[in-house]
Amino acid sequence: MKIRMLLCGAVLAAVSFNALGTGESGSPEQGALKAVGKEEVSFKNEVFPIIYDHCLNCHLPGGKGYEKSGLDLGTYESLMKGTKFGPVVKPGDSESSTFTKLLEGTAKGLKMPAGLNASGTLDRQYILTMRKWVQQGAKNN
Ligand code: HEC
Repeated sequence: MKIRMLLCGAVLAAVSFNALGTGESGSPEQGALKAVGKEEVSFKNEVFPIIYDHCLNCHLPGGKGYEKSGLDLGTYESLMKGTKFGPVVKPGDSESSTFTKLLEGTAKGLKMPAGLNASGTLDRQYILTMRKWVQQGAKNN
């Protein structure tokens, strides 16, 4: 199941990479890796709007997620600070960042956003945007 989801993600990344019109093809994994290097993802214009729509109702002081974990997603600085136990973003490494792992439910049996819909999963496209941003160094851009 886990492997299927990962493969599915790689294929989608490859498809969107090819859709950029480069005409190159390769294995899905290569496509996904190359896609990471393409066009810089902006925290302000792309990542934060997703957080705003899908995370802030629980991850601001007073919200369930904040009260339980200490994670305030209201600003870049508070996101980078992480939970009361430490950082959730490891710049350049979306595979081991809790922030991006949780979107696919691959960490600690948790999945974020908690209780969004039946499957509790963000749109694939949003997950890829968040992953790319972390992979590109999680900049305040
Ligand atoms: C419906 C409420 C809710 C929403 C929406 C929500 N969260 Fe959470 N989040 C929680 C709760 C509750 C916890 C604490 C979970 C625990 O420790 O059992 C948490 C914890 C976390 C953690 C820390 C996990 C850890 O312990 O290391 C991260 C990272 C996180 N959320 C990211 C997100 C992101 C990113 C989004 C939006 C895509 C999001 N959350 C949306 C409720 C929510």
